[in-house]
Amino acid sequence: MQQTNQTSSRNILVTSALPYANGDIHLGHLVEHIQTDIWVRAMKAQGHKVTYVCADDAHGTAITLKADEANTSPEDFISKVREAHETDFSKFLIGYDNYYTTHSEENREMSELIYNRLNEAGYIVSEDVEQLFDPEKQMFLADRYVKGECPNCDTPEQYGDNCESCSATYNATELKNPYSTLSGATPVLKSSKHYFFDLPQFQDFLKAWTTGQTNGKQHLQSSVSNKLNEWLDSGLIKWDISRDAPYFGFKIPNTPADEPDKYFYVWLDAPVGYMASFNNLCKRRSDLSFDDYWLAEYADKTEIYHFIGKDIISFHSLFWPAMLTGANFRTPNGVFAHGFLTVNGEKMSKSRGTFIKASTYAQHLHPEYLRYYFASKLSDTVEDLNLDMAEFMQKVNSDLVGKVVNIASRSAGFIYKKYDGKLSDTCSEPELLEGIVNAGDEIAQAYENREFAKAMRLIMACADKANEYIDNKKPWALAKQEGKEQEVQDACSVALNIFRQLVTYLAPVLPELADNAKAFLNVDDLLFSSRTELLLGHEINKFKPLMQRVEQKQIDTMIDASKQTIAAAPEPGKKAEKPTKKDTSPNYIDIKDFAKVEMKVAKVIDCNHVEGADKLLQLTLDVGEENTRNVFSGIRKFYEPEQLQGKKVICVTNLAPRKMKFGVSEGMVISAEKDGKLVVATMPEEAEIGSVLA
Ligand code: MSP
Ligand code: ZN
Repeated sequence: MQQTNQTSSRNILVTSALPYANGDIHLGHLVEHIQTDIWVRAMKAQGHKVTYVCADDAHGTAITLKADEANTSPEDFISKVREAHETDFSKFLIGYDNYYTTHSEENREMSELIYNRLNEAGYIVSEDVEQLFDPEKQMFLADRYVKGECPNCDTPEQYGDNCESCSATYNATELKNPYSTLSGATPVLKSSKHYFFDLPQFQDFLKAWTTGQTNGKQHLQSSVSNKLNEWLDSGLIKWDISRDAPYFGFKIPNTPADEPDKYFYVWLDAPVGYMASFNNLCKRRSDLSFDDYWLAEYADKTEIYHFIGKDIISFHSLFWPAMLTGANFRTPNGVFAHGFLTVNGEKMSKSRGTFIKASTYAQHLHPEYLRYYFASKLSDTVEDLNLDMAEFMQKVNSDLVGKVVNIASRSAGFIYKKYDGKLSDTCSEPELLEGIVNAGDEIAQAYENREFAKAMRLIMACADKANEYIDNKKPWALAKQEGKEQEVQDACSVALNIFRQLVTYLAPVLPELADNAKAFLNVDDLLFSSRTELLLGHEINKFKPLMQRVEQKQIDTMIDASKQTIAAAPEPGKKAEKPTKKDTSPNYIDIKDFAKVEMKVAKVIDCNHVEGADKLLQLTLDVGEENTRNVFSGIRKFYEPEQLQGKKVICVTNLAPRKMKFGVSEGMVISAEKDGKLVVATMPEEAEIGSVLA
């Protein structure tokens, strides 16, 4: 058998999009980081030099608000979030060479350098912009912090960019009766100077770049470049890259002294964070040089690829290449977009327990299950992918445990016990082995093309052949017959050699299993090239179980835990979850599920405003227990405390206590919601305090 991989080693820099430092890592993020990590590991296994960097995206208004809410500084807040993000990703075996933050000196310097170069080259222009301003908070309001009535259909409680009822898009300034979601104040119009990146000057460059290729490989997926070209044809507009103080980010250098401070919009310094993270790594790694990877003159020595989600394509495929080229840096070789993760066919939902955080998943299920499941679903397209829990369990159990690990567990015992751990000196099935070794070329190609689902199918087809072989040979039956010793050793040796090939092929997806298998097989590496040398007369170590089956109970517990860990309240600045079209179809729950919720008649003993929280009322409830309950409810906008005093309401009494900034909430008061307006459900006077609703 010939070594088939003859391409020379390439120098590749790879990135995943930088997660916002304002929330937890969830399974949606993991689609991307697992996809990237598999690709990185597969390319490394081909002998290429691959460097993988990422970082937290730490700037912007949402971070300041979150930090305020947590009663801490933005700096402290983002450093805690970064720690949590790194812990989560390491559980899922994401092997970054560096995980950094955009709030770093390297990033400040690089962002300023790029901006200054763009400015000197005449690509930065300034213009006065009129925007809504919150007079109480003394800040300009981004669209998502303004609500009001739709200028088209009058639906109340619509955000500043589009109407969720009639789908009209508009400017925040057109909303009727607007209010700031940060303070409740009525915003005023105010003008200030903004800086713009003059994207229209890059029209021709982008037209070529988005449809272009480097070394025969398209920069973008064809569906992406088609879409972008529709936009390009309708003309680009200047991109607003400045924000007024207060803003958590980097100050724009050399703005006129008589103007308030201007900051880079978070999306200006975020992609620069890729360079900064790499630069930070270069300080520790003498074998890497920043210039080799980012200077235009070395662009043919090295390659750069960005893995991103479909929602951030324009930032990466229009703004970013234009910024880079305008500032005299090289552009990426490829931007690879993936689709969104849905769970059981629907958008991830907090109330259904399908908004699954990485940490919650990892508490209950093995991360490699998810890596394999995503691999089995991922392709090179931007199509969404669905996490179906039943399919998840079936794939892990039947493919990984039933097909792959089973090959080793059925053969290892014989070799270890009866043949002192030694495999046969010759291969009794050279053709079978050759077929499986040769399949490696197509598998490697599928990995490189990001057709992971195809790679997994090819690997499982090999596993099927191995199992068929073992089923026919029946070493366990042969072992009982006399004079069949050689045949048993040969059959088990063939099986274990196939197992070794399969683990080589799966190693990018299952790095931990591969490490354990490496120890058991007593081999030094699982590089694709070394698979061509069969293990003959080779001594293996004792077999230890490599992977357990998934049990339905683990999945159920994980979903339950997701429901509990996710607080029902939407994050500030994030849109509340509005039901999507799909959500209106019946979503039946079991009577058992309903029975889990304990609701009791409660009397409002006391009701007060909460200082510093303009949405909350604090209620003291008698629910017929020894102690009263303290409950915070987001109804301040609709009730004065006196209106609720003495009323009988409904309280969910077995909700896990929730620690809030103002105290612990020990239950939830039921109210009816429509279009953002809340009406508290009350019970008739004759309802007895503490009686249970059923
Ligand atoms: N901070 C920006 C990216 C800056 S890159 C210079 C951002 N952050 S994010 O946290 O909102 O998203 C990070 C990545 O996760 C994006 O590529 C996004 O598409 C991806 N995903 C977020 N939710 C997702 C799903 N539900 N499914 C798949 N990917 C998802 O955008
Ligand atoms: Zn409308």
